[in-house]
Amino acid sequence: MSKKTVTVTDNETGKSIELEVLQPSCGTETIDISPLYKELGYFTYDPGFVSTASTWSKITFLDGDEGRLEYRGYPIEQLAEKSTFLEVCYLILHGELPTAEQLAAYEQKITRHTLPHEQLSKFYNGFRRDAHPMAIMVGVVGALSSFYHDNMDIFNPSHRIDAANLLVAKIPTIAAWAHRYSTGKPFMYPKNDLSYAENFLYMMFAMPTEDYKPDPLMAKALDLIMILHADHEQNASTSTVRLCGSSEANAFAAISGGIGALWGPAHGGANEAVVRMLTDIVESGKPLSEFIDRAKDKNDPFRLMGFGHRVYKNFDPRAKIIRKVCHDLLQSGRINNTHERLFEVAMELEKIALEDDYFKDRNLYPNVDFYSGIIFLAMGIPTSMFTVMFALSRTIGWISQWNEMMSDNKVRIGRPRQLYIGETTRDYVPIDQRS
Ligand code: SDX
Repeated sequence: MSKKTVTVTDNETGKSIELEVLQPSCGTETIDISPLYKELGYFTYDPGFVSTASTWSKITFLDGDEGRLEYRGYPIEQLAEKSTFLEVCYLILHGELPTAEQLAAYEQKITRHTLPHEQLSKFYNGFRRDAHPMAIMVGVVGALSSFYHDNMDIFNPSHRIDAANLLVAKIPTIAAWAHRYSTGKPFMYPKNDLSYAENFLYMMFAMPTEDYKPDPLMAKALDLIMILHADHEQNASTSTVRLCGSSEANAFAAISGGIGALWGPAHGGANEAVVRMLTDIVESGKPLSEFIDRAKDKNDPFRLMGFGHRVYKNFDPRAKIIRKVCHDLLQSGRINNTHERLFEVAMELEKIALEDDYFKDRNLYPNVDFYSGIIFLAMGIPTSMFTVMFALSRTIGWISQWNEMMSDNKVRIGRPRQLYIGETTRDYVPIDQRS
């Protein structure tokens, strides 16, 4: 079948070039503009990459209009209902669902590598006690480079898989210890007889002075939330990991960069921002309508955190799933409901926003972050740890996207160009002639 192309014509010179239209297995056809500068002498301009595909990938597919999300072709709804987080990690990294033997071997490998090098625990002491846990995560995960950098050849496929397994195994311990350090509690070491989610809850909440059994309902809810957050195509933090990795930096440095990008309230920091917004609303005693009006006011920087998405112009499919978890937990009677009013306000806000033309016209639906913060709060996880929970879940997505990029023998360093609008060339002015 002949290739589909589009023609770009320079109306000044009359010169035209044919650009190939690349065909996806599903989703949007993509124009290959790589010859554009060389053949026609133009850059393209797309701040925020609204219309730009930065790479090919086989890992995650999103359809923002239909509200679809699939990991390696499997719909998120089916994985949420039938799979476990570690099974999803195997799927995202290796591309296929594991056999029973493969899953058992993977779970064993992860379980037996949850302990970081003991020296790594010393890094925490360098942080102020009130350091934000995301600052600790950026530092400690980056520090993994100093423990594993030397014997890791990023061009060796088995070394890359080792790095992926090591990160998936250790990130819950590193994350839980960030919380323990900030609360002055002793580090709890992982236990091999607990599941991945149970182990995290254990390391977060157990005390060495007494037995602690993670609540199975909480562990199941956490496992599901981690599945929903595992990967999400070329979002800001994943693109950061890819760009960082494209310079041939080691995996740990790249993941540390991704954690930094996720921290922003426009991205993974939104779940923490949602709860702070809800708390401000409750404490203000003002009507919700006042906050809705502020969110619409172009002169007011206030935005409804947890609403809107660059890609989803329909309900975020993860939000639909997590909304049910949120309601089930609230009604279970087994959660920390000192924030009852917060949850009520969240449900009222959701109702108002979904009926308001400003939000409907801009497809501003609640996103996954709107509900995840509420669930973490209900689990007793402190607000400052919410984005760490996101990083904990997204590590498999980041490292799998990095692995996919490094497996391409045509990987090139990412180096965007720019539209320069600064001063044109001018001569140096001696200081006694400056005004
Ligand atoms: C995540 O990319 C991913 O995949 C991310 C993520 C993942 O899994 O990795 O899904 C996780 O980051 C989810 C998003 C979490 N962020 C928030 O909840 C923060 C609040 N949302 C916004 O900041 C915003 O919606 C973004 C950042 C999510 C999307 O921004 P865009 O695509 O650049 O959209 P925009 O800022 O151009 O907004 C379009 C319009 C504007 O109004 P107009 O200029 O058209 O009149 O919608 C308005 C905006 O003012 N708008 C909002 C709003 N979000 C957008 N108005 C009020 N409240 C909001 N939350």
